[in-house]
Amino acid sequence: MNQTVDGSLVDWAMQVAEAELSAVLPRRWAHSRGVARRAANLGQILREDTGLLLAAATLHDVGYAPRLAATGFHPLDGARFLRDEHGADERLVRLVANHSFASLEAEERRLREELEAEFPLLEEPLLVDALVYCDMTTTPFGEPTTAQERVAEIVGRYGADSIVGRFIRRAAPEIFAAVGRVEAALAAQPR
Ligand SMILES: [Fe+2]
Repeated sequence: MNQTVDGSLVDWAMQVAEAELSAVLPRRWAHSRGVARRAANLGQILREDTGLLLAAATLHDVGYAPRLAATGFHPLDGARFLRDEHGADERLVRLVANHSFASLEAEERRLREELEAEFPLLEEPLLVDALVYCDMTTTPFGEPTTAQERVAEIVGRYGADSIVGRFIRRAAPEIFAAVGRVEAALAAQPR
C-alpha cells in the first residue's frame, strides 16, 4: 500500500495510530493527536508536504505500542512496523525513524549505525525541523508547551542519567535550534 500525500494519507495515519495506541497507551495517543494539531498549523510553510507532516506527527510514537516494541527503541520499532506491515511511504518512514534527533538516542543505545543504514535522515531539513517543532512543543498530554519546558519535563520524568535523560540533554541545543528555525519560517510568512 503506497500512500500518496493527500487526505487519504492523513486518514490512514489516524486509523493506524489509533488502532495501535488508543487502547493500550491512551496518553501517548493524546500526545500524538496534540503533535498532529501542531502539524496542522504549519501548512503555510510546509505547503504540499503538510499531509506528510501530519501523518508523521500522528504516527511518530507508534513504536511505543507494546506489540511493536521489538528493540525497545521506539523510532526504529515504529519505522520498521510502518515499512513492513504497511509498506508506508518512504519519506514518512524516514521521518518517523529519525524524529526529534532519534539518532542521538540511538547512539546511547548502540543502535545508531543500524538506524542510519536502514532509515537515512531525510535530506529535507524543513520537514525534519517541523516534526521536531511539533513533538517538542507538545506536552505528554497533548497540550501546547515550550521546548524548554518539554525538555525539562522529559529530564524530570526519566531522570538526568537515564538513557533518555542523557539523550535529551545532549539533544536540547539541537531541539531549541530546530524550533527556532520553524518559528522564524512561520514569522516570515505574510499574515
Ligand atoms: Fe517519540
